[in-house]
Amino acid sequence: MSTTTIVDVVGTPMDRVDGRLKVTGAATYPIDVNPPGVAYAVLVGSTVTSGRILHIAVDAAERAPGVLAVITHVNAPPLAHAPATGRMGDPIGPQPLPPFQSDAVLHYGQHVAMVVAETREEANAAAALIEVTYQRDAPVLAYEDPRASRVSHPWTPDYVRGDVPSAFAAADVRINQTYTTSANTNNPIGLFATVAVWDGDVLTVHDTTQHPHGVRDMLAIAFGVDPASVRVLAPFVGGAFGAGLRAWPHVTLAALAARITRRPVKLVLTRAQMFTSVGHRPKTIQQLSIGASGDGQLTAIEHVSTSPIGMADELINLITYGTPHAYACPNVSTHAIQVRQSIPIPGWMRAPGEAEGSFALESAIDELSYALGIDPIELRVRNHAHVHPDSGLPWSSNALLDCYRQGAERFGWSARTPQPRSMRNQGQLVGFGMARGALFAYQPPCQAIASIRRDGTAFVRSGATDIGPGPSTVMTMLAADCLGVPIERVRFGLGDSAMPRAPQEGGSGLTGALGNAVHATCVSLVRAFVDLVHDDEGSPLKGCRLDGITVRDGGMQITDDPVRFETYADILTRHRLDELTIEGESAPPGETSSATMIVQAGRFIPYTAPSTGTRAHAGGYAAHFVEVHVDPDLGTVRVARVVSAVDGGRILNPKTARSQIIGGIAMGIGMALLEDTVSDRTGRLATTSLAEYVVAVNADVRDVDVLFVGDPDPMTPLGTKGIGELAIAGMAAAIANAVYHATGTRIRSLPISIEKMLGHESASAGTA
Ligand code: MOS
Repeated sequence: MSTTTIVDVVGTPMDRVDGRLKVTGAATYPIDVNPPGVAYAVLVGSTVTSGRILHIAVDAAERAPGVLAVITHVNAPPLAHAPATGRMGDPIGPQPLPPFQSDAVLHYGQHVAMVVAETREEANAAAALIEVTYQRDAPVLAYEDPRASRVSHPWTPDYVRGDVPSAFAAADVRINQTYTTSANTNNPIGLFATVAVWDGDVLTVHDTTQHPHGVRDMLAIAFGVDPASVRVLAPFVGGAFGAGLRAWPHVTLAALAARITRRPVKLVLTRAQMFTSVGHRPKTIQQLSIGASGDGQLTAIEHVSTSPIGMADELINLITYGTPHAYACPNVSTHAIQVRQSIPIPGWMRAPGEAEGSFALESAIDELSYALGIDPIELRVRNHAHVHPDSGLPWSSNALLDCYRQGAERFGWSARTPQPRSMRNQGQLVGFGMARGALFAYQPPCQAIASIRRDGTAFVRSGATDIGPGPSTVMTMLAADCLGVPIERVRFGLGDSAMPRAPQEGGSGLTGALGNAVHATCVSLVRAFVDLVHDDEGSPLKGCRLDGITVRDGGMQITDDPVRFETYADILTRHRLDELTIEGESAPPGETSSATMIVQAGRFIPYTAPSTGTRAHAGGYAAHFVEVHVDPDLGTVRVARVVSAVDGGRILNPKTARSQIIGGIAMGIGMALLEDTVSDRTGRLATTSLAEYVVAVNADVRDVDVLFVGDPDPMTPLGTKGIGELAIAGMAAAIANAVYHATGTRIRSLPISIEKMLGHESASAGTA
């Protein structure tokens, strides 16, 4: 008898299914798409920060060689503004205002003109001939400016628990500090690109996006066409980190250029335009007040953030969102203030809000540990939120204490001497620091479709994207396990709005949303095969039930009788079917149907969700441990070593998951030490290239170790928690805390630049 093989690849470290395509250059990113007859669009950005366009001289540009069209607010058609929320309730976030609809200039770099020409060089040359005359108004750049209006937003309500003022006044130990974070800009190496082709009223767009369906909906509304006649393709995206979550004005402009010139049009943002056109992590000022008893019990936390929002934009970053539930503290209040400023409109950047908020909170907790003389880990353990601080419900899963313990063990925390400036190595000051990281649970609805074909292959697809975390790989693994089809015979398709609707790849929510959808759809597909053979006299499986079969080797067997086995291909052939195709979906946690099954080692086990109201749905947790080496003379900070212990629930592919955490750590190092989007006092950007805006490179990311702890989370069949953003949450604080431990100097302002280190070093000279 031939051996039987159960497909059981989920949970094993697998290479990316698209790795070879990517490293050989065979993967087609939006920038690689070149339809026949393609023309090139180039954008002209405002050189002023605030004001009006009085006149645009376009004659010379229009007469320049190769020019097909010059488009400005003067000749652009009306374009409608898309609403904030997608059709299935998946919040891609508020869309920016459509471009070229008025003469108002609201920020530096705002698109004010577009040239379309036969070649990119001709478009660039013509764009240089355009002369814009502006009325310059004084930009709103200071929070104190009386014209700077404050925006309240339903996403950032004030939070109050207990009585913070009284508890703070009565505390034995108090910390009250201001922390600031700099503006950071997503800089994926791949420049954002859009290629648009109209065929009558049918629009096809290749776009650097994290949400094909969101871009489709926006374009349909902007141009007043049926969403079904717009197709957005993004099978390969490249890095995006949040910059691809919104449907930006340049995407609309590429489609507009194609419509006006009746040509396929390609538009690639320049590196400088990446700083002004696809959002950024806005700067923050944060006030943290913490009160504690002498034995280290937190009694009061107050967290107030101030951050900017664009002059006519609605995108909010949730700076204080994580603070209320971070610790078991009876008195907590948070207040998030957004102030309109004449800045390029902010967007989202990996762990938006939480990366900034955790820097302030976890720095302040570290300061408290020194004030109390309690080890930073011990202080956090003593104040661990064993239950949800509001509801009192137990968490659905929470292995944060294991993150602290196992991470400390792996890192070798016990070698740390508590006194700042007490550890040295070859003339370098050595510091050990740590911080807590967390991210909320989030899983929007998602649809998928799955087919098994007569040749025995499986094809599963959904209109999601893969910006690097690896859903292409993980979904292929999931489908293989669920269907019992060898992984090399399974293909997962994505990045196409003609596929079933998927949410944005954001909020660390896609693996859960898409994974549960793929899983549910594949279970339904097997169920369809079970139904097909149920009354089939020709099948050895006649009369079988889903709970009595095992999927393996591209088919199904009666679990207790391995001889009663048949391949899907044989079933399809006998029934004269080319394929069997089933649509399915996942619902947000708490709305999962009771008929859901989960697949374990080829068998179908009923999934039981926790009873409603018995568990608080937990997100992911992490504990980050950092060793820094600081040169006492030069002020240079090197992150010598990082250990991140992560509770990500069930880890579907430890290899791609580990890569996610390493990537988050790298961005955390950049945020802590390097990244700073700088404007001058007129609001113009000073950092517009990777020479001026410095990101962490391989030399900055040295010894990194990742360990996963915890158990599958029971709130969804798959048991995952989002991990894409976990590593950067808390990472900047862990580094700043290590810098303090190394030097005795507390830097409360990111990035921890050499200039700041030297300033502080000279202030504390003589203690070295
Ligand atoms: Mo992320 S900022 O949710 O892509």
